[in-house]
Amino acid sequence: MIDINALFKVSYGLYIVTAGNSESANGFISNTVFQVTAEPPRFAACCNKNNYTSEFIEQHGYFTCSVLSQNTSSDIFGHFGYKTGRNFNKMEGMQLKYGLSGTPVVLNDAIAFLECKVINKVDVGTHWIFIAELIDAEVLSQDVEQMTYDYYRKIRRGVAPKNAPTYVDKSKAEAEVKTEEVKNEVASASAKKYKCAVCGHVYDEQKNNTTFSDLSEQWKCPDCGADKEDFIEI
Ligand SMILES: Cc1cc2nc3c(=O)[nH]c(=O)nc-3n(C[C@H](O)[C@H](O)[C@H](O)COP(=O)(O)O)c2cc1C
Repeated sequence: MIDINALFKVSYGLYIVTAGNSESANGFISNTVFQVTAEPPRFAACCNKNNYTSEFIEQHGYFTCSVLSQNTSSDIFGHFGYKTGRNFNKMEGMQLKYGLSGTPVVLNDAIAFLECKVINKVDVGTHWIFIAELIDAEVLSQDVEQMTYDYYRKIRRGVAPKNAPTYVDKSKAEAEVKTEEVKNEVASASAKKYKCAVCGHVYDEQKNNTTFSDLSEQWKCPDCGADKEDFIEI
């Protein structure tokens, strides 16, 4: 039997993976960038085949990885993690610098960045794993801790959407909510307010005169665009 809670004991960081150039680029939030060899230093990034960014990585052959700080704003998670760049330019208004390959690096809330040249692509079903050689890396801030997936989930009460490799579907998530550690994170089940796990927006049934369950499945968080299933009853 697979105990889904065991999967949450695996540690990850949180990153913005970006590909493209100064003309056109895109990026997404990832919790699955990791170093795979030391000599030469190589990294892997696991990217959903439906992510718009996958197309940029394939086309340009490079990606950058902004290592996010523990203080990363909810807006950044909403912007890069819950919306696709197919509909708008995600880079507009961001603080950017350009790497050796001309790939943009998102500097917002970043404490370090890596720049990588893709050398291989592995098909793992729903996702590609892009394996890449490190060509540049820099620390941007010594003062702030990096964001971990654990911190994002427990302290910031964030969740990962469908395209993330660590996505948990609703029925399994309910099982997760029954665990001791998550029990402390969610408030009473009898309340009729729901909080967006991404940006913190509160949906109040009384104010909106509509029960949360009556909202259509296509309904999105009015602040950050997160899906209905990303709301937690509080
Ligand atoms: C906390 C978090 C972790 C995520 N991790 C991944 C990941 O490792 N791989 C992935 O493909 N998508 C991941 N996602 C989902 C993508 O960021 C999301 O689908 C994004 O909207 C894709 O953007 P794009 O279509 O513009 O590339 C994650 C999202 C969040 C919020």
